[in-house]
Amino acid sequence: MPGEGSHAAQIAFVGEGPGADEDDQGRPFVGRAGQLLDRIIKAMGLKREDVYICNVLKCRPPDNRDPKPEEIISCLPYLQRQLELINPKIIVALGAHAARSLLNNNKAIGQLRGQFHEYYPGLGTAPIKLMATFHPAYLLRNYSDDNRAKVWEDMKKVLAELGLPVPRR
Ligand code: URA
Repeated sequence: MPGEGSHAAQIAFVGEGPGADEDDQGRPFVGRAGQLLDRIIKAMGLKREDVYICNVLKCRPPDNRDPKPEEIISCLPYLQRQLELINPKIIVALGAHAARSLLNNNKAIGQLRGQFHEYYPGLGTAPIKLMATFHPAYLLRNYSDDNRAKVWEDMKKVLAELGLPVPRR
């Protein structure tokens, strides 16, 4: 399941890997986590068609387990090429697996989120700004005002960086 969205997208959202619903439909983020991502995109004043949505893993890990390092390594060149071709202004890494895979580190999502990092698409290519935030599935499991506010803070930074209006909530 490669991903979908606008090839001229300014923002690329990168998740972890397809779940059962995504596997069935061959589209990213169409299950419960996807519905929450849709709401986040809408709250940002954007449409799903305006952005690009994909995952680190292109196939569903059995039983929704965490991706294994070798699975990430085998899918990463595909994702890197996608990001090189889409060339978004900002990448939003949804959750620890996406953030760590793209930034090549092992830090906790709580440490990574809330600030811009740099993603290097290739040698001699300008870095792309990357914002890490909580994965929508994590947010669904931990749906507190505090966590929701944190994700919204992260998305407001993305909008401000792009010079887009920040809708009031
Ligand atoms: N979770 C992900 O990380 N990606 C999807 O596409 C759906 C759920």
